[in-house]
Amino acid sequence: GRRIVVTGAASGIGLALADRLLAAGDAVIGLDRSPCPDRITTSVQVDLGDPDAVRAAVASLDGPVHGIANVAGVPGTAPPEVVLAVNLLGARVLTEALLPRLPEGAAVVNVASVAAHRNTVAPEALDELVGVEDAAGVRAWLTRHPLDGPAAYDTSKAAMLAWTERLAVRLLPRRVRAVSVSPGPVDTPILDDFRTTMGADRFDGAVALVGRHGTAGEIAAVVEFVLGPDASWLNGVDVPVEGGLYAARKHRP
Ligand code: NAI
Repeated sequence: GRRIVVTGAASGIGLALADRLLAAGDAVIGLDRSPCPDRITTSVQVDLGDPDAVRAAVASLDGPVHGIANVAGVPGTAPPEVVLAVNLLGARVLTEALLPRLPEGAAVVNVASVAAHRNTVAPEALDELVGVEDAAGVRAWLTRHPLDGPAAYDTSKAAMLAWTERLAVRLLPRRVRAVSVSPGPVDTPILDDFRTTMGADRFDGAVALVGRHGTAGEIAAVVEFVLGPDASWLNGVDVPVEGGLYAARKHRP
């Protein structure tokens, strides 16, 4: 069977994904700052915002990894340096550390967000952020490009899209794919924080356009597909899973 690394596997979308993979017979290595449920094959408690801890966690694992799902994330209620360190740097450091273990046919799926489109940081600065190597680098970048928590969230997700494209190109010769998946509002414990950072009116307006929140399972199903062999020609792109939000915004009745 396959061995798939899932970050954020203790809750929400990551846990829903882990359950789908387990049901399909895959082994799941769950990484989260909170303990994962016992049914997760291997559970590693780690703060993804701490690059040294992430590298140590990877060193404690052995064997090949057939897929990485970078799902863990913090909302814009957290300080900007934490948002960027967890959502972007954590995913990058983990992926870099695992790259040597990915065989041909493996895939990296990065969970971004429709919030990426609210990013206001210019492309050159965004590229600079994508290249940041450590927490000090994040802080230095933030002094040049000050953002509050909510803006840092949007930018962390935009940077994830930019990083995913570059990663896909880099991994082409190895026949390893990298794809981002961008959810719209999904009913998980993080949702109230998004309502706070976006403002209730704006948030509720977006939800009203599509009629309801998505479920963690509806996102996990797409991530599972993208990880798998049936998605072998899907690479370097973003897959929005947002219930029709973009279309509804564009063509309001
Ligand atoms: P959640 O709050 O249920 O799950 C997030 C998981 O990440 C938790 O288990 C948490 O412990 C873990 N995590 C947070 N910080 C961590 C750290 N420093 N180290 C290790 N683990 C950490 O939320 P949800 O909705 O499942 O979020 C998953 C991803 O989906 C996030 O990246 C989020 O930004 C993204 N997303 C969620 C949307 C939603 O409406 N729920 C919409 C768009 C994107």
